[in-house]
Amino acid sequence: MEKAERKNQTPIAEFIILGFGDVPELQPLLFLVFLVIYIVTVAGNSLLVVLVVTDRRLRTPMYYFLGNFSCLETCYSSAILPRLLASLLTGDRTISIKGCLLQLSVFGVMAVIENLLLTAMSYDRYLAIRHPLRYAALMNGKVSCQLVTVSWIGSFMFCTIVSVLLWQLTFCDSKEIDHFFCDFLPVIKLSCGDTQNLQLVTITFSGLMTVVPCLLTLASYVCIITTILRIPSTTSRQKAFSTCSSHLITVTIFYGTRITIYVVPTANTPKDLHKILSLCYTVLTPLINPVIYSLRNKEVKESLRKALLKLVAIRNRRRV
Ligand SMILES: *[C@@H]1O[C@H](CO)[C@@H](O)[C@H](O)[C@H]1NC(C)=O
Repeated sequence: MEKAERKNQTPIAEFIILGFGDVPELQPLLFLVFLVIYIVTVAGNSLLVVLVVTDRRLRTPMYYFLGNFSCLETCYSSAILPRLLASLLTGDRTISIKGCLLQLSVFGVMAVIENLLLTAMSYDRYLAIRHPLRYAALMNGKVSCQLVTVSWIGSFMFCTIVSVLLWQLTFCDSKEIDHFFCDFLPVIKLSCGDTQNLQLVTITFSGLMTVVPCLLTLASYVCIITTILRIPSTTSRQKAFSTCSSHLITVTIFYGTRITIYVVPTANTPKDLHKILSLCYTVLTPLINPVIYSLRNKEVKESLRKALLKLVAIRNRRRV
């Protein structure tokens, strides 16, 4: 009965992304806030990439990962923020279904690469702390390059499969997405017709790509922390911890908010809570990543200082 009813409905061609509510006075303020966030995110992460690429002292696997991660963070927020800014500016909240699925696919690839890179980074820290003497042999430029390549290619392959499934979904019931971008679950929920199996497969697939890397990262950190706690001298303990604390902060925010989203039931929590938590891992992590790494990391700070000094020197020379 229900199925017959559903089949009669004509497929829709576009969604409405509700974003952050209907208060018109709030839109310019939100626009400004997100514009600043976007500019700072792109500038900060690009700066980190430039430092990693140009500074010879940062040519170690840990910084290769960091450079790739920053590069990714720029793409990640570029998949979401420009579109959000445009709709805040114009007030046009519609998005074609193709556009929405495209955003979802791009965002999906980035999210999976991010998961895999974070896992590779924690494995790198695990090796550095658990096997400090063999670290240089275990994790060299070649291995890190392989891990980075596997992360990128693996994510693209995996996301192609999910995307093929996604593009087969049909949408007809409802067109409103109560979110600020085309996220996975809100879009899947809107699909209709005989797509139950397809939904199940896509959700399982994507869940797997979050849960497995998350567990691996967690396992690395359990090993790292037990190793650190066993170090007898306080100073060496602090030193060991400082090499992984930046990464631990990023991982905690990233997975902490994501897990909260899935654990907190949708039914009786305010919708805004979900949006705020999503903001944390889609917008906040890329924004604070360069801050965490440059403030907490002596080598990056030093490299930044040198780069600034060089810049000042060049300007002075020009003036003379
Ligand atoms: C990304 O990783 C590769 C392989 O480790 C490295 O050669 C490259 O410099 C990294 N890219 C950036 C921007 O750091």
